[in-house]
Amino acid sequence: MNIALVGATGKIGRQIARTALDRGHSVTAVVRSDANLPPELDGARIVIAALDDHDALTAAVRGHDVLASAYGPASPETASTLSTVATQLIAAARAAGIRRLVVVGGAGSLEIAPGLQLVDAPDFPAAYKSFALAARDALGIYRSAEDLDWTFYAPAAEIGPGEARGHFRTAAKTFLSDAQGHSQIHYPDYAAAFVDEIERPQYVREIATAAY
Ligand SMILES: NC(=O)c1ccc[n+]([C@@H]2O[C@H](COP(=O)([O-])OP(=O)(O)OC[C@H]3O[C@@H](n4cnc5c(N)ncnc54)[C@H](OP(=O)(O)O)[C@@H]3O)[C@@H](O)[C@H]2O)c1
Repeated sequence: MNIALVGATGKIGRQIARTALDRGHSVTAVVRSDANLPPELDGARIVIAALDDHDALTAAVRGHDVLASAYGPASPETASTLSTVATQLIAAARAAGIRRLVVVGGAGSLEIAPGLQLVDAPDFPAAYKSFALAARDALGIYRSAEDLDWTFYAPAAEIGPGEARGHFRTAAKTFLSDAQGHSQIHYPDYAAAFVDEIERPQYVREIATAAY
């Protein structure tokens, strides 16, 4: 498949790019600078485009089967850019005639009980709250894009470096944790779940997650 990927230089994005390339897909990494690109992007096509430049972003993604995003704000102060970028990605997808949008989401919007999202739990860590609330706002923007086949794919609560285990669980809407109450996934397994969703859509117009 032809995959356009925003946020391809990030910790999650570079793993998604690597996994997709290793599976034989064509990946266009849409970056704001081509200085210091991570080695995981070897083999990707690199296109420089600012996310707030609608025409440049549309031109960068035109002709791809899927627009994927692992965009992440640099700080809690800029967390609300998750919504800005959601609007920019939706506009570019529409202008480029791409129906399928798969974005890295936030676990805070997953349900820990019917009607109760993780971010609303009393013990939700304060350090992540602004990101989680901003991600929920962005989810609302994707939900309103009824003409697009979007997926808001949240990692487990904890995502980080580690060996690929090659197995994980996925679910729509529901927060996943293991028997010890840990919600974890390593970058390569999350990337595998994300690229699985690109290849075989399972959670269209839904929030979904992958965890051990
Ligand atoms: N448990 C969870 O729910 C959970 C955990 C972790 C992450 N996440 C989600 O995943 C996202 C990505 O995480 P990450 O750890 O991979 O983040 P990261 O390493 O900080 O990567 C962020 C990516 O966004 C890009 N970016 C930032 N500002 C940009 C701008 N103004 N224009 C264009 N690109 C810009 C960065 O590009 P540059 O290289 O050019 O800066 C980079 O590619 C997070 O923000 C969050 O939404 C969720």
